Order: sequence, then C-alpha cells, then structure tokens
Amino acid sequence: MDNRPIGFLDSGVGGLTVVRELMRQLPHEEVIYIGDSARAPYGPRPAEQIRDYTWELVRFLLTKDVKMIVIACNTATAVAWEEIKAELSIPVLGVILPGASAAIKSTTNGNIGVIGTPMTVSSDTYRQKIENLSPEMKVTSLACPKFVPLVESNELTSSVTKKVVYESLAPLKGQVDTLVLGCTHYPLLRPIIQNVMGPDVKLIDSGAECVRDISVLLNYFEIHHSRQERDLHHTFYTTANAKSFADIATAWLGAELNVEHIEL
Ligand code: DGL
Repeated sequence: MDNRPIGFLDSGVGGLTVVRELMRQLPHEEVIYIGDSARAPYGPRPAEQIRDYTWELVRFLLTKDVKMIVIACNTATAVAWEEIKAELSIPVLGVILPGASAAIKSTTNGNIGVIGTPMTVSSDTYRQKIENLSPEMKVTSLACPKFVPLVESNELTSSVTKKVVYESLAPLKGQVDTLVLGCTHYPLLRPIIQNVMGPDVKLIDSGAECVRDISVLLNYFEIHHSRQERDLHHTFYTTANAKSFADIATAWLGAELNVEHIEL
C-alpha cells in the first residue's frame, strides 16, 4: 500500500482525459495534476524548450511527494520520457507506448493513422514504436496543430471546430481502419473526429490505454492506495487562469474540483 498521490502533467487541459480514465478505472487513487496552460501549446515549440518545460513540471510534482509520474502529454513523452524515466527512482509512465500497442491490437488491415502535435509527428516516435513491435504495420502520421488551441479555449463543439477537424483529417479519410489520438487533448474532440472519420474507424485514446499500464505498475510494485474514495483530495494546478481551467475540468470530470493557480 502507498497512499501518496499519482502525479500527472500536461501542457494544459489535455491530461484531464487521462485523469478521467484513472478516476473510472482506479477510483481509489489520489491525483495531483499540473497543466502548463500559460505556455500551451507545446507542440510547435523546439524540442529543447519542451524538454526544459517538462522537467519543470516534473520537479513541481516531486515537491508534492508523488509515488508515480504520468506524462499525460504525447509531445512531452516523445521528447523527454526516456530521460526522465532513467533519472527518477519512482515509476514514470508515458502515453505513446500504450497507444502504439493498442493500435496494433485494434487494426485488422494494418493501416494505422496517428494524429498529433507537430513535435509528436516530426519525432516519428509512434511509427517507430509501432513498427518495432510489429514491422508489417503501415503508419500514416498527420500533424493537427489547430486542435490544441481550440480545446484550450473550450471550443469543443463550435462550427469553427467542426470545420477545422473536417479539413485537417481529410488526408486520412478512407486510408486507415484505426486512428490513434496521439495527443491527450484530442479525446475532448472525439465525437467530431469520429463523425469525420466514419463509424468504422476505431479511435485509440492513448491516455486511456496508459491507465491500464498504471494499474499494472500499481499491482506490480504493490503501491495501491488503501483509503476509500471519499477520503481523497485531488488537487489540480494550472499556470494560467484557475477559473478557465476549472470550467473545462469540471465539465470533463463531472465534479467540483480543487484548482489552484501556480507560478513555476
Ligand atoms: N496534450 C499534449 C499532447 O498530448 C498537447 C501538446 C501541446 O500543448 O501542443 O501532445
């Protein structure tokens, strides 16, 4: 047993999609979350800057005495997961490997699409991980740089958003039977993405897949939380406006949340 919280980080609100799955699959775990909305999006930034920002978020979480860190951001995972994992003595999970494995499991024709931020796509990490596991897969990647700013401004269903998603995904339509949502912000646009891609395309939520790995590690290291759900005190930190963050977080997680502004 280990009653310390699990730490989650993201460039903004995207990691909430991972937390939502955690609360569904592992409701007895306590969450400390840091979203760097003041500096989002990370995706168009240079790798060195994303690496520095990610380390700042990791160091912040370590001050909260977390038992595990989840890099709930594909972009940060692509750039910094390996080195952070190597450096820390607590388990550090990223979201790319779980998404890659799930895509291989899902596809029936071997044609997998991956959408993500410019950095996630240019890093080529998804294609490499998928092809390492299963060389006969054909991976088509597409950067969707307009999605994260729309999600951060809580434009989840507007006609502008529908148009942007429709136009952005046009190159993948009819090309793949499985599409990896390779950015944790994208599940917030899932209904529109599914509508554009059609009902037969299986969408893979990399963050949700990662929660299964969290569960495996909690079991393996025997570090489950022992207390009951009602005793948990989740805390969400944002580098931007607490109210804007709380609006999105409350709608997405369906509960009143403790959100605090923090300067890094
Ligand atoms: N949620 C982040 C991801 O999964 C978005 C990165 C960004 O801020 O561009 O990649």
